[in-house]
Amino acid sequence: MSFTTVERVPPRLNRSQLFCPGVRPALFEKAVAGDADVICLDLEDSVAPADKPQARANIIQALKAQNFGTKSISVRINGLDTQWCYRDVVDIIEQAGERLDLIMIPKVGVAADIYAIDMLISQIEMAVGRKKPVKLEVIIESVMGLNNIDAIAGASKRLESLHFGSADYAASAGMRTTNIGGPNADYVVLTDKDAAGKRDTHWSDLWHYAMFRMVAAARAHGLRPIDGPFGDYSDEAGFVAQAKRSAVLGCEGKWAIHPSQVALANRVFTPPADEVERAEAILAAMKEGAAKGMGAVALGGKLIDLASIRQAEVIVRQMQMIRERTKG
Ligand code: COA
Ligand code: MG
Repeated sequence: MSFTTVERVPPRLNRSQLFCPGVRPALFEKAVAGDADVICLDLEDSVAPADKPQARANIIQALKAQNFGTKSISVRINGLDTQWCYRDVVDIIEQAGERLDLIMIPKVGVAADIYAIDMLISQIEMAVGRKKPVKLEVIIESVMGLNNIDAIAGASKRLESLHFGSADYAASAGMRTTNIGGPNADYVVLTDKDAAGKRDTHWSDLWHYAMFRMVAAARAHGLRPIDGPFGDYSDEAGFVAQAKRSAVLGCEGKWAIHPSQVALANRVFTPPADEVERAEAILAAMKEGAAKGMGAVALGGKLIDLASIRQAEVIVRQMQMIRERTKG
């Protein structure tokens, strides 16, 4: 292990993150009644320019009056290149109160974007005497953002998570694809001909590099990596396949752009029962061993090493958060 250690941000359950356009407050209530871990109230691309002030007012009203229970609440502001960004931050942080957990910054390109928003939030929090600091979520969704991702990931103590946004990323890179977060029939590999002259077509994952890079940058800075949207919400199997790929790479959750995707994301990002059982058994064996003064212990005929203990702790803590959030 390096002498430089990575300090992880405090854990937050983020298996599913359901988006609600700020102009449809009726959806906020439906989202609260559902099972999403995080609700993201959107001021950005799901809100037309003329509706931005109304969307802000709806979100402030909801943050003051609505009981969001044990869910985490995020507000996605407009990008730093727009005329709405400063007003989003000022109005929301000044008026929304302590219930707001997170601000999501879209289309981040350089570390200074984070610095600017951090400065603004810090001033407002001091002015209004906010007790709990608002944390930041960042969407990597441009070629510039992906190029500068390490500097972005280390830009502020407020950062909690990096998210990959495939639709805007594709536009920024000039990618010839319109399927948000899904595969593309032109991104394939043909096998060589077999003895009968037959060739197979293998679909490849065009998002692999960006996702892998995002996970590495997030984890190297102690942040949570989260997979972004999957646009075709009628394709459940496609969503699950993408979510499983992200989970394998290290993501802790995925966006839901329709309520039907929430249960799918929760299922994929909940540790499987046998893994939880084994993790709990590992920690119990370690505790027992420590009580007897033993450093190394065995479980099921295998030595438990420090890496498996760290992994077990992550799984057990994740499961505790899930049980706490879903108990009522
Ligand atoms: N949150 C909570 N509830 C939602 C919801 C959401 N985001 N989207 C739809 N619902 C509700 C509907 O009100 C409806 O409820 P009902 O059965 O009680 O009438 C039910 O879920 C089924 O909705 P459906 O009719 O299939 O969807 P729709 O046509 O009303 O809306 C979208 C479809 C895609 C426009 C909508 O889901 C949406 O706005 N999603 C978020 C988009 C967004 O914020 N994008 C930015 C991030 S990429
Ligand atoms: Mg976007």
